[in-house]
Amino acid sequence: MKHNIVILISGTGSNMAAIVRAAAADRWAERFGARVAAVVSNKADAGGLAFAQAQGIATAVVPHRDFATREAFDAALAEAIDAHAPSLVVLAGFMRILTPGFVARYEGRLLNIHPSLLPAFPGLHTHRRAIEAGCRVAGVTVHQVTAELDHGPILDQAVVPVLPGDTEAVLAARVLSQEHRLYPRAIAGWLGARR
Ligand code: GRF
Repeated sequence: MKHNIVILISGTGSNMAAIVRAAAADRWAERFGARVAAVVSNKADAGGLAFAQAQGIATAVVPHRDFATREAFDAALAEAIDAHAPSLVVLAGFMRILTPGFVARYEGRLLNIHPSLLPAFPGLHTHRRAIEAGCRVAGVTVHQVTAELDHGPILDQAVVPVLPGDTEAVLAARVLSQEHRLYPRAIAGWLGARR
């Protein structure tokens, strides 16, 4: 396969599942020579691992608590990733801050999804902060990962309205449904440019 994709998750993995489903439905193997080769988690109890296994996708767990430093964790993570010789590494709800060395290793082939319209609201609690700021719109961003958290060249964005009375959970769900559309589209765009 020309493009092995490795997806990193920490939890539910609904974005990962959306990417796996899109890869099958939109025939990424035939169109781009691409497949999701592995799903790697820093948490053994990440819900998404069972989905990946059920799809016949290789999985690995690298528990961050087993490592004394971020550098040691990132080295073990890179080893698990590189076992699948990926041309693209996709962060999908992967809740660890990565070291500059790790980011440099995958420069230009490391993508992230962030549930805000970057550069607004990098970091955590984006939906609560958007509601508290009185934003009329929120959204989601897919970007290349650089050493600075939630920065880096933007590949694509989707805008989502903030409606009167929205709670953090309601807004998060509205944004998440757009994440599931945007991330596969952005990855297909990345692959299409490298056919
Ligand atoms: C998503 O909102 C993602 O943007 C954020 O964490 C959430 C992960 O959801 N960083 P899932 O694990 O893909 O379901």
